[in-house]
Order: sequence, then structure tokens, then C-alpha cells
Amino acid sequence: MGSPLRRSRAWFGRLDRDGFIYRSWLKNRGIPDDQFDGRPVIGICNTFSELTPCNAHFRTLAEQVKIGVWESGGFPLEFPVMSLGETMLRPTAMLFRNLVSMDVEESIRGNPIDGVVLLMGCDKTTPALLMGAASCDLPTIGVSGGPMLSGKFRGSDIGSGTGVWQMSEAVRAGTLPIEEFREAESCMHRSAGHCMTMGTASTMASMVEALGVGLPGNAAYPAVDARRNLLARMAGRRIVAMVEKDLRLSQILTRPAFENAIRVNAAIGGSTNAVIHLLALAGRVGVELTLSDWDRLGHDLPCLVDLQPSGQYLMEDFCYAGGLPAVIRELGEVLHKDALTVNGQTLWENNRDAPNYNPAVIHPFATPFKENAGIAVLKGNLCPNGAVIKPSAATPALLTHRGRAVVFENSDEMHAQVNDDSLEVDETCILVLKNCGPKGYPGMAEVGNMPLPAKLLRRGITDMVRISDGRMSGTAYGTVVLHVSPEAAAGGPLALVRTGDMIELDVAERRLHLDVSPAELAARAARWQAPAPPMERGYTRLYYDHVLQADSGADLDFLVGHSGAAVPKDNH
Ligand code: FES
Repeated sequence: MGSPLRRSRAWFGRLDRDGFIYRSWLKNRGIPDDQFDGRPVIGICNTFSELTPCNAHFRTLAEQVKIGVWESGGFPLEFPVMSLGETMLRPTAMLFRNLVSMDVEESIRGNPIDGVVLLMGCDKTTPALLMGAASCDLPTIGVSGGPMLSGKFRGSDIGSGTGVWQMSEAVRAGTLPIEEFREAESCMHRSAGHCMTMGTASTMASMVEALGVGLPGNAAYPAVDARRNLLARMAGRRIVAMVEKDLRLSQILTRPAFENAIRVNAAIGGSTNAVIHLLALAGRVGVELTLSDWDRLGHDLPCLVDLQPSGQYLMEDFCYAGGLPAVIRELGEVLHKDALTVNGQTLWENNRDAPNYNPAVIHPFATPFKENAGIAVLKGNLCPNGAVIKPSAATPALLTHRGRAVVFENSDEMHAQVNDDSLEVDETCILVLKNCGPKGYPGMAEVGNMPLPAKLLRRGITDMVRISDGRMSGTAYGTVVLHVSPEAAAGGPLALVRTGDMIELDVAERRLHLDVSPAELAARAARWQAPAPPMERGYTRLYYDHVLQADSGADLDFLVGHSGAAVPKDNH
């Protein structure tokens, strides 16, 4: 019999009218009475959706988790939550990350669940599920869906997202026929799974492993590799033991775990989106983590992994080279080795003997792929609360640059003008995009890597300095300053920039400076008017009224923190 303190006993351990109700309705599926005998009840939180192509194989994964739970004497109950398909959802999946986190939190808390397995894959599903689960703080394991197999097109590898950005620019430059572009559609995404570059999904799957919330191997096994199913099954077995030991998420998500994750993110050339997601997650568990920590802990670390968008290989290559365990072993001394992970072992116990089968994909620490590759946090009068840039994905010569601003007030204006050959712009200019932050878009869309002006593309220009309060796809690249905070729509100095102003970027000095006098900026600020809310009602209005700025993780202000799993009242 299970522990009388196990929370599911408050439902299934009763012999009264309500106990009848809790058990009897579940028995409509033929569940035997012995499943209610006090064994751990494991929730399987599933983000399956045919509208989220990256998570469309999750029914199979959920079945594997269930088998594992049964094998360990637990009682699995699968439940759906809202899914977020990055390619599909408008205006941007990020708008709904916090909404899904609420769905997850309340679905766990309100049900007879003792421990939970989170099935997550496409970009925002991972942080959303982690955030919601963290606010409940039950024993929790994350299982990522795994990346797709490598894209193959006309004899070459092509990577999710990264290849799209490259080929679409080539079409605009007139160097790639539209017929070939269309043909590549069927060649890029050949199997189940999420984007197979080191984009946000692969980055967040790596963060799950680096934080210790996932089992070793979570980051890299392809979705269609049998070991992905095995991982799910072993997670099902392990979560039962975690409930028995009452090993909760808050014991895993500690400050050292976050520091490890930041360092691993540098070593994998991870997505800038991880900055926002980990800041929000830390806020849920009460770990003090700041934007500055990203620079302080990661800036001088090398990138070891030669994966797109920073390099050339793909997640399948990363898996065969040894995956994240090999990276963790290479990082060795810079990590908190004694950080606890969900399998009950420390991070170092899990990874200290991990082999590296291909140093061309995973470089040794002594001879890295790129030096000083961690995310850099900029400060200056254009971003008083910070902005980020990913130097490993930028053009080195542009990391110190002074240029004339060419300003777009919003993404519609940018799209309308960027192909117009009368636009007064050359490659020395700095493109500035406003009103793409949390409030401005709304939802902080991935538009920061704005397309280069068509007339410059035709001249062979491949990169320019770009600045915005938006985000960038983890699969994208370029000298792109993102997450400018405060954003333009919140009255940040970005709102005051005008075409013709001079801007100075100096990544080595961590400086982003608008070369306009304080008096002139004050005069512009006095005339600035806040834009109207994007919606008068519904979730979007709630989001607009409560979203925090990017430097705080863009969570909703009332969701920061955690409430535990207690439910004060019965439902009958
Ligand atoms: Fe789902 Fe890239 S679109 S992970």
C-alpha cells in the first residue's frame, strides 16, 4: 500500500461517496481495482498535436512511458495540454508559452497525480511544461521528443530553419530557382521529430539534460531512434522511484543546475531563446538568476559543437558523436559536478566516462570549435536593462561597428520596405526594428533576424548589424542584437531611435550606444505615445497587461513563484 501522505490518496484512498466517484468513473476504461491501492499515480503530460508537427509522434512516446510506469508498479494517467507548434501558431507561439504553463500547473495540481513525466519537443513546449511543473513542484522527469533525421537535398545536408533562411535569401538574390526551393520542402524534414539544427528545440532538450531534469541521452537521440523510445520507457520506470523517494523538481532545479545549463548552452552554441526561458523557469522555483549571469558565467567559454546554425553538422551527427554526455565530460571542471539529476546520480557520475566518437563534431575543450562563444549581454543607453547577441553566429568583423540607423517602426513596415530598391540603405547601416517585444508584437516574435534589403543581397552582402526588441529563431544566424529591454512598446529608448541616428555596437566592451544627445532624447521621449493594447479582451489582453520584460524572462508577473501541489478544497 502506498504512503498515506501520497497526494493521490486524497482521491483514491477514500471509502466514502467521493472515493466511489473518483474511482468509479475511471473504471469505465476497465481499470482494475488494484490500481487504486496506493501505488504512485503518474501523470503523463502530453503535448501531442497534429498542429505541432514536431510533437506528432508523442502518442508512441506516451505508450512507452506508460509501460515503464506499469513495469515499476505505478499507475499511469495520460493527459493533454495545449500544444504550441512553432511553424503554425500566429501571431507567435511565444505569446502562449505562459498560457500553457498555466494549463500544465493547474492540470497537475487539480488531479490525483503523485509524479509527472513531461513530453515536450517543439520550441515553446519545453519551457512551458517545465515552468508549469516547477510551480507545482512534484517529482518530475522531462522527456524530449528528439530531433528529426538530417535533411538531405541533392547530395548535401540541409538543416531545419537554417536551410530555410539560407535558401530563401538565395531565392531573393536570384541565385536559387523557386522550383528547387519547393523541392527542398520534401527533403528537409524526413522523419518525426523536432528541428535537427541546434535551434531552440534542440537547445532546450539539451537544457533539460544539463539541468538534470532529463535522463542522460535526452538531448540527441533522434525521434525515430529506438533509444528515444527506450528513454521514454526508462523515464516511466524512474518516475515511480522518484515518487517513492519524494525527489522533487525543486531539488533538481537549483542555482548550480542553472549555472551548469548556462555553461552547457555556451558549449553547444545554443539558442538565445534559452536565455528568456531559463530566466522564467528560475523565477518559478525562486532561484535568483539574472541576465548578467549569462554573460558572467558563459561569455569566456568556448563553443565545442560544430552544429548549424553556428557550424555545419546536425543533431544526428551530434548523437553519433556522443551527444550531450560527451560535451558535459569535455566541460568537466567548469561545471558543478555534484548537481543532482533525476536518476539519483550527480551530473558528473552520469557523464564522466562519456566517450567522444567524433572530435570534428564535438571538439575537445583544449581545441574548441570557437573561442569565447557564450551569449554576450550588452548594456548602454539603447538598452538600459540589457540586450543579447550570440557572437558564435555573428560575423566577427561586425562585432565592433558604428553605423547609420535605418528604422522600421514595426514588422509590417519592415516587410513592406526591405525589398524596395528606393530604400536608402547600404551594408554599413544598422537595421533597427521596433515593436516586436513582449507587449509590442505581442508575444515577442522571432523577427529579429530581419531579412537583408534585396538590393544588398543581389550585391552579395550576407550580413548586417540588426537590432530589435524581438527574438530570433534558434536556427537563425547573423550579427543580430535581440531582446532589447525595455522594449519600444513599453517606452524603452529603442522607441526613440530615428533613421539617420548613429549607433555604436562594441560587443567586446558589451556596449550598445545611441549617439544622440540626452537633451534630444528627452525631447523625443516627451512626445512619445504608448501604442494601444493589441486586443481589448481575452488572453492577449491579460498577457499585455501582465507580461514582464525580456530581461526578466517575459513571464506573467502573477505567475512568478510557485504554489506547491496542495489543493485546499474538495470538488464535491
Ligand atoms: Fe518545432 Fe523547430 S518548428 S522545433
